[in-house]
Amino acid sequence: MPEPFIQALSFYGTQKPFRFEADVYDCEVLGELPAALEGSYYRCGADDAYPTLPGDIILNGDGMASVFHLSGGKVDFRCRYVKTERYLAERKARRRLAGKYRNGYTDAPELAGLDRDNTGNTSAFWHHGRLYALREDSIPMELDPATLETRGYAEFKPRLKTRTMTAHPKIDPVTGEWWSYGQFCHKEYRNEMALTVFDRQGNLVRQEELVMPYPGVCHDFAMTREHVIFTVMPLTVDLARMKSGGDFYAWDPSLHPMYGVMPRSGTTKDIRWHAVPGAMIAHFMNAWSEGDKVFVDGFAAPGNSFAFFNDVNGNPTPNAVADSKLTRLHFDLSRADGKVTLQGFDKAIGEMPKMDERRGLQTYRYGWHKTFDGIAMVDWQTGEHRVHQLLKTDNPGMSQEAVFVPRAPDSPEGDGYLVSVVNRVKENLAELYVLDTKDFLGAPVARVRLPFNLPMSFHGCFVARPGAQLPR
Ligand SMILES: [Fe+2]
Repeated sequence: MPEPFIQALSFYGTQKPFRFEADVYDCEVLGELPAALEGSYYRCGADDAYPTLPGDIILNGDGMASVFHLSGGKVDFRCRYVKTERYLAERKARRRLAGKYRNGYTDAPELAGLDRDNTGNTSAFWHHGRLYALREDSIPMELDPATLETRGYAEFKPRLKTRTMTAHPKIDPVTGEWWSYGQFCHKEYRNEMALTVFDRQGNLVRQEELVMPYPGVCHDFAMTREHVIFTVMPLTVDLARMKSGGDFYAWDPSLHPMYGVMPRSGTTKDIRWHAVPGAMIAHFMNAWSEGDKVFVDGFAAPGNSFAFFNDVNGNPTPNAVADSKLTRLHFDLSRADGKVTLQGFDKAIGEMPKMDERRGLQTYRYGWHKTFDGIAMVDWQTGEHRVHQLLKTDNPGMSQEAVFVPRAPDSPEGDGYLVSVVNRVKENLAELYVLDTKDFLGAPVARVRLPFNLPMSFHGCFVARPGAQLPR
């Protein structure tokens, strides 16, 4: 039996579902919005429309897309559920039908035969003029960029061989290609994975398969202009456990995080896997290649950073997410022993890394990430790590993922604005927070106030769209 609305376990504690779809025209703006912010800031998160099974996790929530349309100093806000097959079936039934996260054996019978995993709850992604809601075990859902109404599955679905595409794709800033992988691409839950590539215009140009070293989680991957770095982490899937109603993942301490490096000029047959003990990376900041050397930056946890999943014996594990440290992995492909060396970035503890996307897949200098008490800016050149404090203030705040927007298309790397949603703890409302990276520790240049709070979203993107606004 579902419980009354529980507060689903999330990465950062608990959160209540939002449950309503909102429009706010002409939001209150404190300060002045810079001219560079002419466009739409899209995000996707998880929000339970109906009470769930007890102990459910936030990753299993219904997809909620939201947008801040910014134009001429004015801001409109909207949020809409992603209208997936699962969501529509539940709305019709007027109750929750989906059981546990990615375990169809725990569903109500009404959901049989439907696309039960796809919630579109993980990332808002823009490519070839289209907006998608992504979820790593599913096919992207397309949304209307102005209204957020769900258009349906991505237009390329009939041509796909895979049934899954990551919520952390990479765009090559030079070629404009969209690179994606699909964990458990046939949903057989063995070791199957797919590589899928689209060109700048959204044409499907490459589909290959590969075999993972073990059936583990791979939430993100890394890319350079010369290499692709696939990952598998020691949270494993067991079909027998699923059939008995257990969790989709369980932590297996006998396994190591694995990183598979593939030259982009080669095929998935050329992947070489490297074990990197004690470096579970859920999110990457960036990566680049120098000949046979490949450098990969991400937040590495020494243990299970998805601790809402128990170990393979059913016991809880310590939550390693609080120890996630920005770490540079050095792969030297000329080494016969495959050894990988690690270099930690002092003080950079946190998650949700971002960089200036114009430097994606290449050498870069600046990055940003969420900390437990604010937003941090890292300078890889000087080693400087600065935290814009939000929590220890008169009006305590908690930042969600921040995105970088350049001041102008040709401005230097890192010169622009950092945009994030900040939850105001005492006021119980949310605001869009805009920092100038040239005055990173100074006051925000603008705060866009919503008259209510917002649950945590996961990932989003800012898209330059002149004149962006809600329909009038
Ligand atoms: Fe993610």
